[in-house]
Amino acid sequence: MESHTARPHQAGRPASPLTGEITVPGDKSISHRALMFGALAVGQTRITGLLEGEDVLRTAAAMRALGAEIRRDGADWLVAGRGIGGLTPPEDVLDMGNSGTAARLLAGILATHDVYAVMTGDASLRRRPMARVIEPLRACGARFTARAGDRLPLTIEGARAALPISYRLPVASAQVKSAILLAGLNAPGITEVEEPAPTRDHSENMLAHFGARVNVSQVGQGRVIRLAGQPELIAADVVVPGDPSSAAFPLAAALLVPGSRVIITNTGLNPLRTGLFETLREMGAELAIRHPRRQGGEPVGDVVCEFTELTAVDVPPGRAPSMIDEYPVLAVLCAAARGTSRLRGLAELRVKESDRLAATAAMLRGNGVHVEIEADDLIIHGTRRIPGGGLVETHMDHRLAMSALVLGQATTAPVTIDDASFIDTSFPGFLVLMQKLGARMGAVNAGSL
Ligand code: S3P
Repeated sequence: MESHTARPHQAGRPASPLTGEITVPGDKSISHRALMFGALAVGQTRITGLLEGEDVLRTAAAMRALGAEIRRDGADWLVAGRGIGGLTPPEDVLDMGNSGTAARLLAGILATHDVYAVMTGDASLRRRPMARVIEPLRACGARFTARAGDRLPLTIEGARAALPISYRLPVASAQVKSAILLAGLNAPGITEVEEPAPTRDHSENMLAHFGARVNVSQVGQGRVIRLAGQPELIAADVVVPGDPSSAAFPLAAALLVPGSRVIITNTGLNPLRTGLFETLREMGAELAIRHPRRQGGEPVGDVVCEFTELTAVDVPPGRAPSMIDEYPVLAVLCAAARGTSRLRGLAELRVKESDRLAATAAMLRGNGVHVEIEADDLIIHGTRRIPGGGLVETHMDHRLAMSALVLGQATTAPVTIDDASFIDTSFPGFLVLMQKLGARMGAVNAGSL
């Protein structure tokens, strides 16, 4: 099902200052995992602050189709789990919509359940590579058939007698790491994953929170994660912090518009997710963390951000895993910064919801910014007067859509996007929240700009 139809173009217009205090919706990575681990646990898991974006709702629907009971209870969500190995075969195709995380993590779960399943997704997800999970999951004993190029639709025959594997990730990917760990839950013995560089560790944290034995050790620049298979996962309540990847958009808008000051409360601050904050500080940004605290096993805090005249930055490739989803909006900030920025080592951006490296460059170029791509690096020549006036193709990519609307806060002429509907995959209520802060964004034909 293609759930997204063309809607009126949306535009971001040069804004008056953004001010105020908001909370962004729950963390997408943690939300997917809370539903999945809840479905694999014994007992009832209560999730507070779940992201009710389309990506996460796809995960909820898939876990329901596999036998878990999942329902909303006031503002919370309740998951009655089936226990590891207890999922039942789905009666129909599992449609993961736009969500790579949902598809890859679920492939891991199904690989070691005795089920036959067919998985598909929307046109963007059907273009994304699945070989990165199929290859290690085959070693667990699962059988896969995929469309040419290891793309969805994909059939999965889970292993009856799964094997634990020891696998070194060829790319630093939290999705692949998590898929292997989820498969390892229903394999006897120790499953071992080595990552070349640390990636977001929400799966490891949540495994421990649900009572699994998981051990993490530093090896060189990376980490080795060892999981003891076939534990009894015990239902445990999860409190989901605000998504730092969503907070990036209002923060960036505030940094662009003179006179702005915004506070994003209850933002997740897992150190493996905060590469953008480090980069912004290097650019001279006025950024402070208030009330740092721990909540549900994750660090959180209130982020305070003020307009700053930014300077260019050189971002090393090693920082990419901790800010992988933030490059499009960082590129927007670099476009407005003094000097030439270089964002290095962005090969993984080519396989996101769109080819984000090409699409980010096109977004900026189409609005009068001088940009180059050299191998896997993005080079942006900053200017204090960005012409704007472009129509940005968003390629079914929520983060491009939001980045372009943020860009429009700082351009001379408005920036228009072809489709805002995908924003709901990760940030439902984005336009309203941004408007509440004073950003000027909205439907072109609404006459309200
Ligand atoms: C995610 C991992 C990242 C990220 C995605 C969410 C996760 O993908 O881009 O939005 O929840 O594990 P990769 O693992 O492919 O880098």
